Amino acid sequence: MDGDAFDDGPMTDGLSEQAAASVAPANAVHPPRAPGPAGAAAGAAAGSAVGAPLAVLEAHDLWKSYRGGDGALLAVLSGVDLAVAPGEMVAIVGASGAGKSTLLHVLGALDRPTRGYTVIAGQSVAGLADDALAALRNRAVGFVFQFHHLLREFSALENVMMPLRIAGVAPAPAQARAEELLARVGLSSRMHHRPAELSGGEQQRTAVARALAVDPAVLLADEPSGNLDHANAERLHELFAELTRDLEVGMVVVTHNRSLAARAHRVLLLDGGRLVPTDARAGGGVA
Ligand SMILES: Nc1ncnc2c1ncn2[C@@H]1O[C@H](COP(=O)(O)OP(=O)(O)OP(=O)(O)O)[C@@H](O)[C@H]1O
Ligand SMILES: [Mg+2]
Repeated sequence: MDGDAFDDGPMTDGLSEQAAASVAPANAVHPPRAPGPAGAAAGAAAGSAVGAPLAVLEAHDLWKSYRGGDGALLAVLSGVDLAVAPGEMVAIVGASGAGKSTLLHVLGALDRPTRGYTVIAGQSVAGLADDALAALRNRAVGFVFQFHHLLREFSALENVMMPLRIAGVAPAPAQARAEELLARVGLSSRMHHRPAELSGGEQQRTAVARALAVDPAVLLADEPSGNLDHANAERLHELFAELTRDLEVGMVVVTHNRSLAARAHRVLLLDGGRLVPTDARAGGGVA
């Protein structure tokens, strides 16, 4: 294992912040998930869970390059394959600058790959126009970033209701759903507090509730505990494990935190633009 992959201290990530600021409140509701036509393709994708009947998220030969100021191409992703099953948590580790945030953005349809394609909740993004891509992202993907990006003028309850209201859910059912989710993350007694009146851990748990408001098939998290103390990080990690299992969401989490990686079903190392299995989890045993 590359010793650079883990770092228990806080990290900064401007890329994630920008993305969160532009999309976090824009999730939308969708009807209950139906199994998509992802099964066969999921089985074929490298990195698929053994025996997974279907995948909620697939990546097929993803490439991503950026053109630098000098015109030179920087290859960040160089052929990423991945399939994530419902209820599965996949951790991605790797050195700073390896492309983890870039990969998460492409997986979540915040950004397009240079080559290759993803299948989200059974729908291929290949060829989708921007508005269709945004609609798919809004109904099928929840994001949690290192910083919560809650709207400061609104209570925790209102923040969690926001994506539901944007999606056209009436106030009463939106409130009921938000209350249920906040209870689920242990914040029943704090739901009328604004973000500034919440602890860092409570803010981040509110962000998790917001990410799950629309019942997404996929939950993506980029250094979600990077800004939390040990106790709050542990509580958040436990929550991810529970929610992934109980809600059958497929989760991909980028983390430098060993304890979070240890809870994942698989840990993959992003190295040289590709994902490779690693035994980075505490206790090993990674397939
Ligand atoms: N929009 C962009 N334009 C040009 N280069 C970019 C862009 N976004 C990221 N990069 C570059 O791509 C590489 C991967 O960046 P990325 O943010 O994905 O890394 P990371 O693995 O998430 O790192 P960290 O652990 O520090 O968050 C870096 O060299 C970065 O400078
Ligand atoms: Mg990053």
